[in-house]
Amino acid sequence: MKYYITTAIDYTNGSPHIGHAYEKVLADIITRYRRLRGDEAFFLTGVDQHGQKVQQTAEAEGVHPATYVRRTTKKFVKAWEALQVEYDDFAETTAEAHKKCVQEILQKLFDEGKIYKKAYKGHYSIRQEQFLTDKERNEDGEFGEEWGEVVELEEENYYFRLSDYVDWLREFVSNSEDFVIPAFRKADVLNAVERAVDTDLCISRPKERLQWGIEFPFDTNFVTYVWFDALINYISFAGYNKPEGSELPDFKDLWPAQIHIIGKDILVPSHSIYWPCMLKAMGFADEEMPRLLVHGWWNIKGGKMSKSLGNVVDPVELTERVGVDAVRYYLARDIHTGRDSDFDPDRLVMLFNTELANNLGNLCNRGLNMTKRYLGGECKESSYDDDLSKELREASSKTIAVYKEAMDRFCISEALEHTIKFITLANVYAEKQKPWELAKDEANLEQVTAVLNHMVEVVAIAAVLLRPVIPHASERIIAQLQADHLNSISLEDLAWGLIPVGHTVAKPKPVFPRITLEEPEPSA
Ligand code: ME8
Ligand code: MG
Repeated sequence: MKYYITTAIDYTNGSPHIGHAYEKVLADIITRYRRLRGDEAFFLTGVDQHGQKVQQTAEAEGVHPATYVRRTTKKFVKAWEALQVEYDDFAETTAEAHKKCVQEILQKLFDEGKIYKKAYKGHYSIRQEQFLTDKERNEDGEFGEEWGEVVELEEENYYFRLSDYVDWLREFVSNSEDFVIPAFRKADVLNAVERAVDTDLCISRPKERLQWGIEFPFDTNFVTYVWFDALINYISFAGYNKPEGSELPDFKDLWPAQIHIIGKDILVPSHSIYWPCMLKAMGFADEEMPRLLVHGWWNIKGGKMSKSLGNVVDPVELTERVGVDAVRYYLARDIHTGRDSDFDPDRLVMLFNTELANNLGNLCNRGLNMTKRYLGGECKESSYDDDLSKELREASSKTIAVYKEAMDRFCISEALEHTIKFITLANVYAEKQKPWELAKDEANLEQVTAVLNHMVEVVAIAAVLLRPVIPHASERIIAQLQADHLNSISLEDLAWGLIPVGHTVAKPKPVFPRITLEEPEPSA
């Protein structure tokens, strides 16, 4: 069994923003962490390419929706490349294999009577192309001008018998320990379960209204509307019902997904109500239900990021300005998984400069420089020991244990905090030992050797612990240590003593040049 990780698939009716980027980086960190732990992992991300908004935007730009999504999809792919997000497959909902999988599921559920057709009569906004409910009425009970002409309309659509599964879902969610992570979100789900009683899910749109979707196999006048298309990506790209000779993974190697990573806005009703009920209807057992890791939102000064406010952060532009390590580190460091956080470029700069440039960068620089200068670059045998050194060694095993414990709970920022504390301790150790003073007297050679060995060892451990978050910085540190074996070491084998006696390290080159946030050059 592989550890199977998915993210939400992003709507392609716009460009990727920092919120999308966070989710993909989070998934990438968890994937790299599982591999560090020695697991095989499979990471799927992708894009949600169908729907009304795409159709409308494409129309407004005068291009075919297929052309439009090809163009916007490229922006997402490029962004993840810039952020060193390395996925195993990229789900595009317009892919033939996905469409076929969706259609087979629709056909099966229809044949089993789990999907039915029904007429609905209501107020319909011609301008917005949607049915209106009482929620859309203003204080005087009317539909406001923003809806344009509102008419009474009767429309037939297909419905999924969601309400048949509500009793099962209530039981399942109540009894499950970790269907929803973090656990404080479980109450939202249980409330949403009650709202789903007696309401089936409309899953179609007539072609007169929406063409850009997956056609119903048993009625080509309709296309699927949103969730029976988008949610199924998690199984279609994992090889569910795949045809003979397909290159998709073997479903039994991946399912159930260890973790679907999603934002809090799509927990209810889609991922916690529709999705488990859809799976149940398809015949999945309770043990085959996926888990949901629900992250919070990045806001700007306490409020939403939005195009109209012009405060949307472009992750690619940001990466070009401050570098990929700073962006990934900030996204992992300045939010508690599950909670919201404010995106603050000043904190991005501050955290990079203090925790990476000054703290780790300095330890690496000093440790390697002095090893070069005083010991010819060799980590020599030494019989010297003292309490400070013992304390540092003990801190290493404690740090590795709490790091692992935090990462297993998806608390990346906690794991980083422990790692940074350990590096700080090593810098304090260096300040107390003062190897640059000791080295003035040859009689202290044993002690100088021991102290520098300790400093170098901490750099090695830190480089491994930081690998999931800043993989390329970690590689560069490991290259300076000339300790290639650390690029493939697993967490299980991570313990004091990574750098053997007689090992030679290289001259240090700065891994984390300090950054500043200059205003972008005004364009000429
Ligand atoms: O919802 N901070 O797509 P989407 C953190 N296509 N995360 C954010 C965010 C922010 N400011 N803004 C958005 C969709 N997200 C559907 C999903 S899944 C089968 C279909 C997250 O492009 C959001 O919570 O609107 C979601 O998880 C992801 O970005 C994609 O959002
Ligand atoms: Mg959204």
